[in-house]
Amino acid sequence: MNSGEAVLVTHSLPAGADSTLAAEWEVWPGAGAMPRSELMARAGEIDGLLCMLVDDIDAEFLTTAPRLRVISQMAVGVDNIDLAAATAAGIPVGHTPGVLTETTADTAFALLAAACRRLPEGQRALQEGVVGEWDPGFLLGGDLFDTTLGIVGLGRIGQAVARRGMGFGMRILYSGPRPKAVAPRLEADHVSFDTLMATADHVLITAPLTSATRHLVDAAALARMRDGATLVNVARGGLVDQDALVREAATGRIRAALDVTEPEPLDPGHPLLAMPNVLVVPHLGSASVRTRRAMADMAVANLRAGLAGERLAACANPDIHSRFAD
Ligand code: DGY
Repeated sequence: MNSGEAVLVTHSLPAGADSTLAAEWEVWPGAGAMPRSELMARAGEIDGLLCMLVDDIDAEFLTTAPRLRVISQMAVGVDNIDLAAATAAGIPVGHTPGVLTETTADTAFALLAAACRRLPEGQRALQEGVVGEWDPGFLLGGDLFDTTLGIVGLGRIGQAVARRGMGFGMRILYSGPRPKAVAPRLEADHVSFDTLMATADHVLITAPLTSATRHLVDAAALARMRDGATLVNVARGGLVDQDALVREAATGRIRAALDVTEPEPLDPGHPLLAMPNVLVVPHLGSASVRTRRAMADMAVANLRAGLAGERLAACANPDIHSRFAD
C-alpha cells in the first residue's frame, strides 16, 4: 500500500474490529450516521472509503471524490451506493455477503416465531398487568409446523431460511425471476409472486432492494395474503409499501414482523409501532457479536485489497475487475 493514502471509515467498527484499522485512517468519532456535510467535506481527499448502509454514496459524492480507488461497505446490501456511477468512475465496491447469512436467517425465524405466536403481545400484557388466571382462549396465534412458508428471493439468506423451514416441517414456496438450481435440495417450489402471496401462511422477504423491487409488497399483494398470515421483512424497508401495510394490518387480518423499515428508525409515533399485530425491531438481522466482527473484518480486507489495486474478495460491481491486472 502506498504511504500517504487517506482512508475514511464512517463509523467505528464493532466487536473490537477497530483495532485492525491502520492508525492513520480517520474513523468518524460520532454516534450514528456520519453527517452528509462531513462526508462531502472529505470526499476530495480520500483514496479509500469504508462505509455503512446509512451512508448515501451517490453520484454527487462520487463526482467530488476524484482520488477514490475503493469503496468498502460493511453490509451485503448496497442499495445506498450508486453502483453504476461507481463503476463508471472505475471504483470497485466491496460488500460482505456470506458471513451474515446464517445469523440473518436466525433473526428472520425468531421474528416469524415471535409474531406468529404473539410473544411480544404476551410480554406487553404482563407489563400492563392485564393478565388474569390462565385462560385457554388467551392470545391464540398461528403455527409454524405443518404450514406453508413463502420466501421472496431465494438467495443466500432465503436458502438459509428455507433450511430452517424444512426443520420445522414447513412446505416451502419461493418467488423470484427464475427457478433456482438449489431449490430441489430445499424441497422448495418456484411459484409466481402473486401465487406465493395468496398461498403462504408466512411470507418472508429476503430479496434485494432495486428499482424493480421497490414496493413489491404493495396494497394488492397485502390484500392477497391469507387471513392470519404473517409477513416478515429482513431485507430492506423499501420492499414493502409501508402505508399500505398500516392499512392492511389495521384490519387485524394479518401479522407482520419487520427488521427493516423506511425510514430507520421509525418515528416513535409511527402507527406500526402501536399495532399489537406488528412487531418492529431496529435492523438487527446480522447483529450477533461474531457476525458483526466477521462483517467488519471482511470490509477491512476488501478495503485493503482495493487500496493495493487487487481484486476484492467480494465485489458488488464485479465487472470492474476486468480493469484490474490478474
Ligand atoms: C446488510 O448487510 O445488508 C444487512 O442489512 C445488515 O445486516
